[in-house]
Amino acid sequence: MSKQWRVGVVGVGSIAKLGHLPFYRDHPDVDLVAVADVNLTRAHAVGEEYGMTRIYGDALQMFDAKEVEAVSICTDNESHVPLAIAAMERGIHVLVEKPLATRFADARRVEEVANRTGCLCMVGMTHRYRNEAQALHKVVRSGALGEIYYAKARILRRRGTPAGWFTNRQKSGGGTLMDIGVHALDLGWWLMGEPTLASASGILVKGIGRYDTKMVDRWKSSDAANQDNAIFDVEDFAAALVRFEGGSALQLEVSWALNGRQDDALQVEVFGSKGGISLSPLCVFGEQAGFLAESQLSVDGNSWYQDEIGHFIDCLQDGTSPLSTVQQGVQVVEMLETIQRSASVGFEVRKVDERGHRG
Ligand SMILES: NC(=O)c1ccc[n+]([C@@H]2O[C@H](COP(=O)([O-])OP(=O)(O)OC[C@H]3O[C@@H](n4cnc5c(N)ncnc54)[C@H](O)[C@@H]3O)[C@@H](O)[C@H]2O)c1
Repeated sequence: MSKQWRVGVVGVGSIAKLGHLPFYRDHPDVDLVAVADVNLTRAHAVGEEYGMTRIYGDALQMFDAKEVEAVSICTDNESHVPLAIAAMERGIHVLVEKPLATRFADARRVEEVANRTGCLCMVGMTHRYRNEAQALHKVVRSGALGEIYYAKARILRRRGTPAGWFTNRQKSGGGTLMDIGVHALDLGWWLMGEPTLASASGILVKGIGRYDTKMVDRWKSSDAANQDNAIFDVEDFAAALVRFEGGSALQLEVSWALNGRQDDALQVEVFGSKGGISLSPLCVFGEQAGFLAESQLSVDGNSWYQDEIGHFIDCLQDGTSPLSTVQQGVQVVEMLETIQRSASVGFEVRKVDERGHRG
């Protein structure tokens, strides 16, 4: 018989309600026992909706009460690191929302604590849990692409700047690059086979900023603060060329708001000497019997968030390494920071090195 895991959720805002709480509640191997949120009113409202009685305004009290064995951390970006470290220092396994951290040195600290404590630390790179992404990953792993030398990853929104803390650097650590750029970059890099970063050249632009455009939808933080994006000290457009050791590269384009065509979904393409892949539409490019061929992969859609939560519990049950590891999360944060650094100095920069120095 499989073990029942006592799980808690820290930060019960938009993503916790959409992508974590319902799937823990419905998982046969999970007892969803506690929630914590600095907004105690919200913690009570959400906790009671899920039938919980262990409700905290301070996550550390929840960790110290020894009621939970695993937690999801669903707070704003800047609080991921202290909460993940505090949980693991108490022997609690962690599923931390993306991005793992907003600075490379902090991401490394999380990795060090995970290694030292032996706690599972999985990063919520939701797009990896899509059936389409899984299928493409298997195509790449089969060797069908040959030598991979280039990838393009893109998500361009026309008017989709999230409302709330996202545009406040103090809470988000950055703008669209940190928010949705991390998904595009991570998926492109993962499908390339996780090459080692060499350098990056990027631009970050606050091109449009706060807008009053009517009848357009956007993601909203559960917090009342900054719903009008009055604090807006981050970029809403990012572009970068990320170079890897061995000579391959990834081109990234991402916007919250841009005066151009809206992408329906995340776009990722990977190009190799024998074949290529595209996420949307989902297909593989190559040759068949000497002719150009383009085959569509037929894959049913899945519930990404549910499968991500299910995978976290599977990893706990089996003691296996997750699909989105803390080590990979660290490498992605290193790429984000290198792009930010390049944008601030205005030229291509080498990766942040082991001691946190920059070339
Ligand atoms: N995987 C995905 O596709 C996806 C989608 C959206 C958001 N996210 C990520 O999820 C995280 C949360 O985003 P959101 O939209 O749910 O934000 P939100 O503002 O709706 O919710 C965050 C919650 O955390 C609480 N909180 C903040 N600091 C806390 C602390 N120290 N201790 C306890 N509670 C605290 C806030 O009161 C709030 O209720 C972000 O890191 C974001 O990048 C991931």
